[in-house]
Amino acid sequence: MSVVKVGLLGLGTVGGGVVKTIRSKQEKLSARLGKRIEIVKALVRDSRKQRAVQVEPSLLTTRFADVMESDVDIVVEVMGGVEPTYDYVRSLIEKGCHVVTANKELLAKRGAELVELANRHGVHLAYEASVAGGIPILGVLRQFLRTNDITKVCGILNGTTNFILSQMEEAQLPYDDVLKRAQELGYAEADPSSDVEGWDALYKLYILAQLVFGESLPLSAIERQGIVEVSQSHIRLAKELGYRIKLLAQAHQGNGGLHLSVRPTLVPLEHPLARIQDAYNAVQVEGSLVGDLLFTGKGAGELPTASAVVEDLAYLLTQPFAPHPAWRERPEAVPSSRLSSGLDFCCLAGTAAGVTPEQVLLFLERAGVSVRRMTVQYDSGSVLRVGLLAAGLQEEHVGLLERDFGLETRLYPVLEAADDQDADGGSAGL
Ligand code: NAP
Ligand code: HSE
Repeated sequence: MSVVKVGLLGLGTVGGGVVKTIRSKQEKLSARLGKRIEIVKALVRDSRKQRAVQVEPSLLTTRFADVMESDVDIVVEVMGGVEPTYDYVRSLIEKGCHVVTANKELLAKRGAELVELANRHGVHLAYEASVAGGIPILGVLRQFLRTNDITKVCGILNGTTNFILSQMEEAQLPYDDVLKRAQELGYAEADPSSDVEGWDALYKLYILAQLVFGESLPLSAIERQGIVEVSQSHIRLAKELGYRIKLLAQAHQGNGGLHLSVRPTLVPLEHPLARIQDAYNAVQVEGSLVGDLLFTGKGAGELPTASAVVEDLAYLLTQPFAPHPAWRERPEAVPSSRLSSGLDFCCLAGTAAGVTPEQVLLFLERAGVSVRRMTVQYDSGSVLRVGLLAAGLQEEHVGLLERDFGLETRLYPVLEAADDQDADGGSAGL
């Protein structure tokens, strides 16, 4: 039986999962592929480090040149980052190696060049693991949704932040503790600010847009807000009003052009995306023929991600090379077109002695803001917290609420629900 030589760039959470999966599924893979997969080199930063997976010391190297010289057919890039990763991947493609990568940052920042380079050298560039962990969404979009027109994609694309928001709500754990736990579980990026500030979801949305719309926006033109400012009180107030806060990534192509955003968004509790908890991800796609589709599964972690990597590996070993559609970026930023129902969720906090909910309502009414629903809580009697769903809120109102009423103010968009009466002014709830 012939042997396929595989090199690994990185042997951390995902790399370790890939080694374990290839070992545990070797017989099945050999039977299906008619080839044995052999890992011949693994590039790491520190070859003496304790690892979750044991490998022959001779496999490990800290020199990229050793990977280049080891005659590998395929390289699995699971080291992350853009530099020096881009240079390594580029050199390997130029040498004729197929590449499987889980690195969404690399793809979002240098994907267009790598796709072009891989096409020119006739090698596969496979990246299923880069979006939504173990959910095989990219393969589905590429293979089975080519005829449908898709105008909208909406999803939960980051496992770490979904885990944090779920645990803050369910176990009422503080943000820092849950983030630490997400890191221990191998969900978070090496620099977790990429997760919590929304960059990771933004990179994934960029990749999805390339596959769905054949183009994306420059990263700087994608609206981005992370979950750093989402507090337990915001989560509580939202729930009182029948919503759950999710970090939603949304892409929409309409007459106004392409619009992409990543923002903490209120999702009605009965909406399927509100039920996606912990490190699970979900991608909702609306096809012109097939209708609404929802894909869900584990979005982060060792084995779900390794599953996507190894499936990619198996796929490319059975498929002849076919050029990848070029990646394009729309040069101009398209002005923001709202994706929410037009409602905003506004969270206010201040000292109970300083202001009453009635004063806030009166101010908003006079400013022409339509408040549809409101909930009020008093923390330990002295802190007033107000959550309201309102239409017509502007930045200037937020400024006045902060300046004149001394209220800390946070705004979140609200996802449109098919039967949302509030969106067209149905129920006042006040
Ligand atoms: P990780 O645990 O931090 O592992 C990174 C590995 O790369 C480590 O083995 C590290 O070496 C090695 N490495 C990093 N920089 C290097 C350099 N300059 N030279 C040589 N080796 C280097 O990261 P991970 O969680 O496995 O993630 C890897 C990639 O997969 C990232 O692109 C990430 O975004 C993506 N991804 C991760 C997940 C997940 O759930 N974790 C899911 C989907 C995609 P040492 O071990 O010696 O430090
Ligand atoms: N840090 C990423 C997440 C890993 O939490 O979703 C999966 O891409």
